[in-house]
Amino acid sequence: MEAVLEAGRILKKGFRKTKIYQKKGAVDLVTEWDFKSQETVISRLQTHFPDADFLVEESGIERRVSPYCWVLDPLDGTTNFVHGFPFFCVSLALICEDVPLLGIVHNPELEETYWALNGKGAFFNSRPIQVSLLTKVSQSLLATGFPYNIRKTYKPILKRFEQVIIRAQGVRRAGSAAMDLCLVARGVFSGCWEQFLKPWDTAAGVLIVAEAGGRISDFSGRPFHIEKKQILATNGLIHQEMLEILADRDLPDKHGKVNIQGTEYKRFY
Ligand code: IPD
Ligand code: CA
Ligand code: CA
Repeated sequence: MEAVLEAGRILKKGFRKTKIYQKKGAVDLVTEWDFKSQETVISRLQTHFPDADFLVEESGIERRVSPYCWVLDPLDGTTNFVHGFPFFCVSLALICEDVPLLGIVHNPELEETYWALNGKGAFFNSRPIQVSLLTKVSQSLLATGFPYNIRKTYKPILKRFEQVIIRAQGVRRAGSAAMDLCLVARGVFSGCWEQFLKPWDTAAGVLIVAEAGGRISDFSGRPFHIEKKQILATNGLIHQEMLEILADRDLPDKHGKVNIQGTEYKRFY
């Protein structure tokens, strides 16, 4: 928690400055503040846990020796950060051989910290939180996001978006997947869905949703794993209805294949 709060203070300082960014892809931005936040969290954690592995967005030296792995997005919502939209966070999870042990998501600008320990519940600042009690998509505020490869993958993504917006009470695309998951855990959103997220986007948030009583799966209802390319996280009560809405929207590529399988991500440090 101390490491994440310290990284948050750095991001808050950076948020008030003019941001210079580089492009990792057509619309995939990275700033010096992503790296500063990452270095801060890693150096703090390495002091206390020298043996654990890391899986971090802005990468580093590969090492895979420990069953314990810290999964870090040092700045989730970089596009928001660059443009001055205060919906961004640091997201940190600890997993042990695929079992999530803890998750922390901290938005320093809104002063919101969400956290969960496996089996011990989910919290917003120091208050316990629970998912919403709404039972229908038509009563629900939902969230989604669009991946950086949207220019190539937009057809099934927009098809799903279209199918949800004509049924839901509202849909938000606020630009931080980790924060979206926390707002599901807090009962603000009754669900969120997205394609092509990375492990560091979801690792902390899925534990927070699960500990708040929610359900997480892929679009076919199969168990979620942080390396999967589809996530549906809901309050549980609207899960089946959302699965029916999201089903079968993947269009085959030019070889007739539908690519929804998980990808291997390497651990770093
Ligand atoms: C992005 C955000 C966004 C989601 C993108 C992510 P980043 O993470 O979570 O909401 O739609 O797919 O890549 O690049 O800001 O860390
Ligand atoms: Ca991210
Ligand atoms: Ca990031």
